[in-house]
Amino acid sequence: MNIALIGSGGREHVLCQKIYESKLSKNIICIPGNPGTKKIAKNIDLDFLNFQKLLKTIKSHKIDLVVVGPEEPLVRGIVDFLNKHKVKVFGPNKYAAKLEGSKAFMKSICKKFKIPTAQFKICKNKKDVVKFIKNSKLPLVVKADGLAAGKGVTICKTKKEIFTISNEIFKGKFKTSRKLVLEEFLNGEEASYFLIVDKKNYKFFGSAQDHKRVGENERGPNTGGMGAYSPAPIINKDLEEKIIKKIVKPTLLALKNKKKPYTGFLYVGLMIINKEPYLIEYNVRMGDPECQVILPRLKTDLVKIFNATINNRLNKIKINWKKLKCMTIVLCSKGYPGKIKKDKLIKNIERLNLLKNSFIFHAGTKLKKNKLVSNGGRVLNITSTGKVFKKIRKNIFKIIKMINWKYGFYRKDIGWRVI
Ligand code: AMP
Ligand code: GLY
Repeated sequence: MNIALIGSGGREHVLCQKIYESKLSKNIICIPGNPGTKKIAKNIDLDFLNFQKLLKTIKSHKIDLVVVGPEEPLVRGIVDFLNKHKVKVFGPNKYAAKLEGSKAFMKSICKKFKIPTAQFKICKNKKDVVKFIKNSKLPLVVKADGLAAGKGVTICKTKKEIFTISNEIFKGKFKTSRKLVLEEFLNGEEASYFLIVDKKNYKFFGSAQDHKRVGENERGPNTGGMGAYSPAPIINKDLEEKIIKKIVKPTLLALKNKKKPYTGFLYVGLMIINKEPYLIEYNVRMGDPECQVILPRLKTDLVKIFNATINNRLNKIKINWKKLKCMTIVLCSKGYPGKIKKDKLIKNIERLNLLKNSFIFHAGTKLKKNKLVSNGGRVLNITSTGKVFKKIRKNIFKIIKMINWKYGFYRKDIGWRVI
């Protein structure tokens, strides 16, 4: 099969690697891809949000299947568009993608189906905000309704902060929506639970724990994710049953009732409090960097899984996992998640001789005059598998030392809960 992969981050590099390793794949194009995918696929520099142009490229490369990495094209309806033009694509339709695209939509489903989540109010103006504050305790969490590239959530310790942040949102700071969700702060342990879903079935697709704060000991501002590991031991059988029964099943049913069944990866972002799961967020794609620790553990051919999904035959296949643990540490540009400098030379990667259990996934990198340079906040995902998290992390540190990139930093306490 000829496969097109949309996206350019670390998540897409590992997806590309797995597609490349599949017995079923022939030509792979990445739109736009990164220097990591360039080694195993053909990168095509194109704005994937321009669906007409994208369609032309897909047709001219005789693509049999499109796999969508990031959320934005999904929320904008790439699946509906390509399906209308008879192109097969892996991912949810536009309506279902609102689970991530609109926090108000997701919360309304929670309310209707009594899904455990933080108490909340959808606010359209200051009056709504004042009303909710009156009956709640601080801190509270302000969330922009629409997509906000990871910058839409603020945990507010004071009323003043709540008013400042909400006012910015009402004024249109995040262009997609002027609504917000105001909700209670949940104090627990976060975990990410993944499923792969077709119109009739769903299957477990791994668990992981991310580290969102930029600083060690979970300090500092939120980021896109500084490192992750899989599996997440907090997700045991008992908890999994609760997640499925109280959260996943009612959500999938809600979409089926609207005749817009969910398909694709489903990322269930959870807060675990006293062994009970609360839904924090849905993402309609794999997590980044969670994908980089889940896919190296996958035994089954990924393209076979994609095919089963788009044919609604997930019940006919078995998804097998290696009995290995996996961790990734994100090497970031200094200053991230604030101001960073780009175009900084990364010298030592080509010379590294990695063992079979280690991978470097590219994220914010690019080639400039044939030299590898940084191109974003999260630059490289140094990933390794093994039996013991402590040893895996040691191995990752070794690789980072060999890369010796003086413009970068990383968290040295990734996996503190399991080490
Ligand atoms: P979200 O975009 O909804 O995932 O929010 C980003 C991050 O903010 C989450 O991963 C949590 O760390 C934190 N967060 C979001 N909602 C809450 C909440 N109600 N209570 C505590 N932390 C939250
Ligand atoms: N790692 C968090 C996310 O992918 O949204």
